[in-house]
Amino acid sequence: MYNILPAVIGLGYVGLPMFLRLNKKFRTIGFDIDFNRVQTLKNKLDINLEFKKSDLFLKNNSLITNKKNSLKQCNFYIITVPTPIYRDNKPDLRPLNSACEIISKNINDNDIIFIESTVYPGLTEILKKKFFKKKKIWMGYSPERINPGDRKHTLKNITKIVSFESCPKEIKKKILFIYKKISKNIIISNSIQNAEMSKVIENIQRDINIAFMNEILMVCEKLNLNFQEVIKLAKTKWNFLNFSPGLVGGHCLPVDPFYLYDVAQRKGHEAKFMLAGRRVNNELEFFLQNKIIKKIKKNKIKKLLICGISYKANVADARNSLGLNILKSLRKTNIDVEAFDPILNKNSQKKHNIKSKIRNLSKYDLIVVLVKHDIFLKIFKKNKLRNPKKYFDLFDTLS
Ligand SMILES: NC(=O)c1ccc[n+]([C@@H]2O[C@H](COP(=O)([O-])OP(=O)(O)OC[C@H]3O[C@@H](n4cnc5c(N)ncnc54)[C@H](O)[C@@H]3O)[C@@H](O)[C@H]2O)c1
Repeated sequence: MYNILPAVIGLGYVGLPMFLRLNKKFRTIGFDIDFNRVQTLKNKLDINLEFKKSDLFLKNNSLITNKKNSLKQCNFYIITVPTPIYRDNKPDLRPLNSACEIISKNINDNDIIFIESTVYPGLTEILKKKFFKKKKIWMGYSPERINPGDRKHTLKNITKIVSFESCPKEIKKKILFIYKKISKNIIISNSIQNAEMSKVIENIQRDINIAFMNEILMVCEKLNLNFQEVIKLAKTKWNFLNFSPGLVGGHCLPVDPFYLYDVAQRKGHEAKFMLAGRRVNNELEFFLQNKIIKKIKKNKIKKLLICGISYKANVADARNSLGLNILKSLRKTNIDVEAFDPILNKNSQKKHNIKSKIRNLSKYDLIVVLVKHDIFLKIFKKNKLRNPKKYFDLFDTLS
């Protein structure tokens, strides 16, 4: 119908599902600067374990590449590169700048660019002025809501916000043509900044709500109260929010609050609340570490197994994993510690010496589960492991 050749820039947790979805409908170019990522995908392997080999067969003459000149014929760019922070918590815009720079060398008048990386309000506009001022191109922002490890809330099923500046009818038609192929439910906003803001606050809200539960968990411990019972009672109120304590990691929650904080500060507002979750959630690492050490001392543990090192259940990603920090600290003690995570990506397993398979669970004096992958239940059941002296699921037994 339209002569559209989309390109997805950055084929990670967000970009790969986007590329695969588009590739089902059109010829699509998947571009990533990481040679290894491109090669493994070409060999039908997603090291993030979000997709099986059979999902990675390309259709419609699509292409996965790290060659910039393959973008020459594209006319609809979707940017899904990382948005990390520097050590001082300031936004690190280098991947976004580099993606825009690459596109700017290939772009033509009337091409369309959408940013899907999480940004602070105003950044799409700033990037447009910085990289594309010489061209008459159209820019939009569509926040990404996919949730790695979650097979229910997929790109196809979730409600997707699509925001763009005022543009000619033909351009609007092209944008909707593409996005309606990506998600079944589209919400249009004519304010890019509102859409940018809506994404970043979704994640900050979650960070803060988990932090509140983490704080209550720590207070219950001090007051010698049964946290599980307290929450069970509180939940009988109709409007008590259903959040659970947990180790918060990954590429989004530990990072996004700093993006909004930074822009608010530069505009003269010193935010007082949005970073509160960060401090509390990071504290949980030390709280849990101390619990494990206490348990080790009390039970004279010699051989310990830590299970679940990725940043959350059923994902392969170890970015900002507090569980990994706990493991590293325990390895500095004189306890014999091993780690097991069959879901974690192969590179992290190798880098941090984490087992992907385990034969004999009975040789450990204590098994601690930091992140509850579904597969652990099966493995423990098979090994008839439900002896509480041996098996220590931090979140079940914290009381
Ligand atoms: N992971 C999530 O659950 C999730 C959910 C919603 C939104 N987001 C947001 O989406 C964005 C991407 O996150 P992700 O988890 O997919 O990151 P990722 O690290 O998994 O993937 C990003 C990919 O981009 C590539 N890349 C970096 N710079 C590039 C460039 N200049 N040109 C081409 N490719 C480049 C990297 O090699 C990598 O493969 C971030 O802004 C993140 O906050 C992530």
